[in-house]
Amino acid sequence: MHLFLLLILQATAAFGQIDPAHCRYALGMEDGRIKDDDITASSQWYETTGPQYARLNCEEGDGAWCPEGQLEPSDSQYLQVDLGRLTFLTVVGTQGRYARNSGNEFARAYRLNYSRDGLLWKSWKNRLGNAVIEGNKNAYASVINDLHPPIVTRYIRLIPVTKVSTTVCMRVELYGCPWEDGLISYSAPEGQLMMPPGYPIASLNDSTYDGVHERRRLFGGMGQLTDGVIGLDDFLLTRQHNVWPGYDYLGWRNDSLGTQGYVEMEFVFDKQRNFTSLKVHSNNMFSRGVKIFSSVSCWFKPRLIAGWEAEPVTFNTVLDDRNPSARYVTVPLKRRAAKSLRCRFYFADVWMMFSEVSFQSEDTVLPTQNTVVRGEHHENHTMTTTPKTAASPSASDPPDDGNTPILIGCLVTIILLLVIIIFLILWCQYVCKVLEKAPRRILDEEVTVRLSSCSDTIILQTPPVPPRSGHAPTGPPNTDPHYERVFLLDPQYQNPAVLRNKLPELSQSAEASALLLGNPLYDLLLLTSCHMTSGWLRACGGGYAEPDVTQCTPHQCFHSNAPHYAETDIVRLQGVTGSNMYAVPALTVDSLTRKDISAAEFPRQQLIFREKLGEGQFGEVHLCEAEGLPEFLGEGSPLPDRDGRSVLVAVKQLRADATSQARNDFLKEIKIMSRLNDPNIIRLLCVCVSSDPLCMVTEYMENGDLNMFLSQREIESTLTHANNIPSVSLSDLLHMSVQISSGMKYLASLNFVHRDLATRNCLLDRRLTIKIADFGMSRNLYSSDYYRIQGRAVLPIRWMAWESILLGKFTTASDVWAFGVTLWEIFTLCKEQPYSLLSDEQVIENTGEFFRNQGRQIFLYGPPLCPPSLFELMMRCWSRDISDRPTFEGLYQALRPHVNQ
Ligand code: ADE
Repeated sequence: MHLFLLLILQATAAFGQIDPAHCRYALGMEDGRIKDDDITASSQWYETTGPQYARLNCEEGDGAWCPEGQLEPSDSQYLQVDLGRLTFLTVVGTQGRYARNSGNEFARAYRLNYSRDGLLWKSWKNRLGNAVIEGNKNAYASVINDLHPPIVTRYIRLIPVTKVSTTVCMRVELYGCPWEDGLISYSAPEGQLMMPPGYPIASLNDSTYDGVHERRRLFGGMGQLTDGVIGLDDFLLTRQHNVWPGYDYLGWRNDSLGTQGYVEMEFVFDKQRNFTSLKVHSNNMFSRGVKIFSSVSCWFKPRLIAGWEAEPVTFNTVLDDRNPSARYVTVPLKRRAAKSLRCRFYFADVWMMFSEVSFQSEDTVLPTQNTVVRGEHHENHTMTTTPKTAASPSASDPPDDGNTPILIGCLVTIILLLVIIIFLILWCQYVCKVLEKAPRRILDEEVTVRLSSCSDTIILQTPPVPPRSGHAPTGPPNTDPHYERVFLLDPQYQNPAVLRNKLPELSQSAEASALLLGNPLYDLLLLTSCHMTSGWLRACGGGYAEPDVTQCTPHQCFHSNAPHYAETDIVRLQGVTGSNMYAVPALTVDSLTRKDISAAEFPRQQLIFREKLGEGQFGEVHLCEAEGLPEFLGEGSPLPDRDGRSVLVAVKQLRADATSQARNDFLKEIKIMSRLNDPNIIRLLCVCVSSDPLCMVTEYMENGDLNMFLSQREIESTLTHANNIPSVSLSDLLHMSVQISSGMKYLASLNFVHRDLATRNCLLDRRLTIKIADFGMSRNLYSSDYYRIQGRAVLPIRWMAWESILLGKFTTASDVWAFGVTLWEIFTLCKEQPYSLLSDEQVIENTGEFFRNQGRQIFLYGPPLCPPSLFELMMRCWSRDISDRPTFEGLYQALRPHVNQ
């Protein structure tokens, strides 16, 4: 039974640990949970650009915080946020001052200082020692930066950095979660170098420690033991890219620390706590002389100025010579009260290596809870302490057996609860299935939604509009009143029922939209409006089972099955580092093996990191030099120009701690990409999948994505020539359009459905050849292009055909719709987001109008640069009836003659 209890204790250990990948909640700048009083600054330019206006996506005051005067390179102006409690900070988002197009100030770079107590300030540095974080490139788009390492802090300062004298303004959101451990510092002997003959040198130091190094000890800070990153079984392998062997561990050699045979560490906490356990993630690669500790003794200090209590808690571990896995070792601490702990970890072998330490405590100390620490014995683990209570020591306390029935009772209750939960889940699944098959009438009622009814096509003036701002101020309220998660879950397309059910809530906003759109200043927005009578949308069609949706009338509703996305012929590819879905025979987890992947395995040590190109939820894209790749790929392989023997490539890498679903999706993406071969589709060159982290190596596209490329250019004119302004010609734009249609023609010929065609997913090489890619790395940069539902699904609704939004139907025809929007982006030079005057809700509402097709739908306007015949082509892409939309072959044939005219 004891063993069972301990196993449970160990099993729960994995969950007790903070997980940076999941600790990404907005902390309350945007939604006001962080109060104005908690946002301060070193200076402000005006009252109206004070620190309280530094809230991401908010336009109050003059639209941002701006420090006084011009920012000089030597300045150290800051915006300070008091988070109110210790917080594990993982992400920082920044934006400039847009102020409804009257502002254009932003911080191109910034640094972070932080303080746990408001007195001692530390400077944040990334894992490679760089303090400067890349900021914004324009005033409107928010830029999200992951903090590697994360910061445990209560106070944070954002310090804009500039190379030239300039005005800067900032809006900010901070992301993370509460730091429940309460640990504010640990001290330990410095980590050491392991230099065994025949192996790489492992440097086992604490490279992110933010305290003081003195006399070979670390004091007063925290670092790798509290960054949430647990080391791998082989300590030479690392979770981080481009770091040295042994990076994830802090390790010591037994004989280097004198003859004592132990490592002594001290832990200081924010307040007195009752400690229940300590978890130490420890390496156990015994073949290399590394083992978990054989025992640990911890002493307790109730107050910082008090002495150490005489009696330690001692815990003997069970040493394991059979399983070399790194593991959490849980040390019960018997609810002893302390503000500070001193623990001695005794060596079991030559080396001891820790990657994480965490504490579990009841953070309120009730006088009656003073712990009774008693001797306890069992066959596997021993905790030996002299009987003692902190308040009333007594040698005659009975043994601890009295707790066993309570524990058994708790366990039985937990098991019963689990059984009930499992039963409920199974029951829910059953009910959902029955509902799916319910008569149409039921669903009919469920999805009946009210929409505004309009008529008469009018052309209005449009003011300069906020391209790619975050959510419109009229956007949806945060569904979670407490926290909003960013990019946390797979950005998967969701059952459209969620959207349909959302529609009724939107009816009121139609009036607001009419007011907005009825403004006669708005130009060139071809829209339909607006006798604000109530209308009713009834979604129609039966998903994939009902292909002929054109037969539906607004009063026909779901026929048999509720439409859904999870069709067997759809493989979900997004959510790893990518976002796309392709229609291919479904692959099961089991069926995906190395032999399915036709790309060759490249030796990963020949990939030399150059710079980070992008980052997504489950991984990163790096620019790397691939040594010897031409020889590896052999004669005739299509490779970019090379310089000597190496070639630049883009390496998309899955985070080693990604979920198995993400891993499987990544492999599927590789499998599909390895079979694509077209000059306008990004080419997979090779892979590294024989070990973690999984990588796919694609050709490197020097000019980045088309959205960024065009948004930084103007249309070619004498003015751009005279002033050396980066420009593109109309013929360039047409050439780009032809190339995209050609790539899509190829995908369509294979019956591949892309599902996320947009300029952000088209890459350009040095010669401006366009290649369609994905693949979701753009999510961070372009998050406002995606609509989040319930914090889960991420939908590029502004590019999606009505049937994709309402019916979950993704086909080549819906790709054609997205191609029309992509053309529109190209001919507006990506200066504006599609339907930028509409909030996400209004875009969905408009989708209902597309479905109803009663002349009230709002179309994108014809960009001034766009020849009328081309706009006609775009409009055909947005035909309500699938059969009226052109094919990619047709589009290619129609566009090609325009080039070189
Ligand atoms: N970002 C993502 N993939 C890329 C690639 N292949 N080349 C350049 N930038 C990229």
